[in-house]
Amino acid sequence: MSSVDIPREQWATRVGFIFAAVGSAVGLGNIWRFPFQVGQEGGAGFLLMYLLFIVVIGFPAMLVEFVVGRRTERNPVGALKEIGSGIWQYVGWIFIATGFVILSYYSVVAGWTIRYTILGLQDGYIADAAEAEGQFVTLASGLDAILFHAIFMAAVIAIVAVGIERGIELAVKVMVPAIIIITIGLAIYAATLPGAGEAYSYYLSPEWGVIADNWQSIVPAAAGQAFFTLSLGMGVMITYASYLGEDRNLAEDGAIIIGFDTSIAFITGLIVFPILFTAGVDPADPGAGAIFVSLAAAFGDLTLGWLIGAVFFGTVAIAALSSAISLMEVVVSYIIDERGISRPTAAIGIGGAMFLLGVPSAYDLVLLDLFDLFADQILLVLGGLLLMILVGWSLPDLAVDELQRGIGDLGSLGPAWIWAVRIPVILVLLVALVLGILDYYEFLTGPFAEWVGDQ
Ligand code: TRP
Repeated sequence: MSSVDIPREQWATRVGFIFAAVGSAVGLGNIWRFPFQVGQEGGAGFLLMYLLFIVVIGFPAMLVEFVVGRRTERNPVGALKEIGSGIWQYVGWIFIATGFVILSYYSVVAGWTIRYTILGLQDGYIADAAEAEGQFVTLASGLDAILFHAIFMAAVIAIVAVGIERGIELAVKVMVPAIIIITIGLAIYAATLPGAGEAYSYYLSPEWGVIADNWQSIVPAAAGQAFFTLSLGMGVMITYASYLGEDRNLAEDGAIIIGFDTSIAFITGLIVFPILFTAGVDPADPGAGAIFVSLAAAFGDLTLGWLIGAVFFGTVAIAALSSAISLMEVVVSYIIDERGISRPTAAIGIGGAMFLLGVPSAYDLVLLDLFDLFADQILLVLGGLLLMILVGWSLPDLAVDELQRGIGDLGSLGPAWIWAVRIPVILVLLVALVLGILDYYEFLTGPFAEWVGDQ
């Protein structure tokens, strides 16, 4: 049994929970990953598919995590032990492992965003693309990267150590409004750039031919992105909902959270593409270095680009911080609930271990990929898939019953939700898992094997 002598913490206010969930959802996934996915997958067609998956896959899956968290009032491991039997009890462990791995390298990438904020303020950005790339390679790995990884992780530990109400809730109430205001401001600025018109048509008018030709790659990429950006698949929303009171309308809260997350991703596109088009960069080129190479070089080209760039990277760093606290909170809540260790001790211990696990990612980009692909494409999808199978197929009554608390009788919407989980959500996750494993195999036998050979 867990040691429940410490009374369980709760959100002080309704906005506290919503801001924390929005803060978790809005992060590197929106500002760093989303634009380069749009770029790689051909623009507006990807955007359209992504929006579709947010509604059809993301929303039902988020509600599943919410009901499990609120019903059990436990961390993901405890929650799964309570609702599952047999091997299902161990699904919570996958969540903990995923959180561990994701935060280890997420913190490295977040460290780059702090480094790039300082870079703008100190020296400005380099306009020459090749040189900007060289600079990124230097800053992204090695001592510099390890130092900023440490700084970022220390900030996450500090917030999580303080607790739900005075740590996480207070921090997100400042950070989330700041992110929203600054992204809107930057999008307005980007609208004044000469490349804006061309960028909008690329981003906003889907070419059906491009979708038809590339759906095999667009579909899994859009589904994966929908899951990642909403922080689904590793128990964040279980954990955050476990700190809720009983009488909330979870469907409404979920819709608000999804609305914010999707808007921020959408607006980020309205910032990034006008800047890239103005600088003459093909949005398909940049890949994972997109905002640190092409966008940074574009900032180097603009009047006052150093300042706009520093504001942009600073905002990304804040968004990453509010996501990172949710990743750490999953593991910390487990340690507190099941092991009875105090919150500050748990935060320092877990944060320290996550820092160490992240050091290889800060040492070489190939190792960062090794962790990133494994967590994102395999662990995250696997954990999410198992949870959806368990709740959708064996606990539908419990799920509908819990969702109705705070809403009232759902009528036929209850079964509609359960069937959305049973068929489309599970199918998409299954396809994503198979493709993810194949992709990982290719990575291990390709780039990774080469890297090992070079050592
Ligand atoms: N959603 C966050 C982003 O978009 C990242 C994130 C935080 C996450 N917690 C998560 C992703 C849990 C998957 C699972 O950057």
